[in-house]
Amino acid sequence: MMRAETIAKTIADRAGMAPKAAIVLGSGLSGLTGKLQDAVAIPYAELDGFPRPSVSGHAGELVIGILGRTPVALMAGRSHFYEHGRADVMRPALGTLKALGVETLILTNAAGSLREDMPPGSLMQITDHISLLGANPLIGEASDQRFVGMTEAYDRVLIGDFRIAAEEARREIAEGVYMWVSGPSFETPAEIRAARILGADAIGMSTVPEVILARFLGLRVAAFSVITNYAAGMTGRELSHEETKTVAPLGGEKLEAILMRHFSGEGAR
Ligand code: HPA
Repeated sequence: MMRAETIAKTIADRAGMAPKAAIVLGSGLSGLTGKLQDAVAIPYAELDGFPRPSVSGHAGELVIGILGRTPVALMAGRSHFYEHGRADVMRPALGTLKALGVETLILTNAAGSLREDMPPGSLMQITDHISLLGANPLIGEASDQRFVGMTEAYDRVLIGDFRIAAEEARREIAEGVYMWVSGPSFETPAEIRAARILGADAIGMSTVPEVILARFLGLRVAAFSVITNYAAGMTGRELSHEETKTVAPLGGEKLEAILMRHFSGEGAR
């Protein structure tokens, strides 16, 4: 495989810029790519080590351009643990972004809500997470760097910055704890009751391995859940990926407005 530095140089040459912030766009959230100026899209297929998403609602390209007044790299599409059972699939891509000069990684996802006061269409900034899967993207890593501290995995300063951006953009944003489950089946009502007792506010099938990898690489992290449904058992209805894809753009609008506000600010990264 080509080295991350080599691929990063190809990206910087093609895009004509080297962003310091990257945003991973979750299910149904690829709309932000349309807000970029001077955008250059590079299909993952042309980038060694980038994932090959197999999930409908996920594109597969890196789009580099100016958001507000800041150069950013958007990953439209990610790989999930449930596609192959590997938690470290995003490691080469995130390593390449690091080599490109990225310092801040913003992760977004679609998630189920465990809170009555956080209905579908809400946006939640993730302040902490719970992972009980037993899977970890750093299993097999040999260096002592594998013992990554996760006490402040979600950057306190960024959390504050995004609170302010949300206020300025006049968009409501909740805050809470995200629980990672493997999927691809949704949870049972009993699992959701257990998750609530354990302290989860939202639940989903992504993001946590990327947060761990990002902290391993020394990137600052912020993350957001777009709430697409009440979790299993909270309503009489069955859950579906169709619903995730249709509802995601509702919360996605808030997320886009807040990100746009943040990256339009002086010195935002
Ligand atoms: N559970 C897990 N993942 C999800 C959900 C959910 O309810 N909604 C969207 N992604």
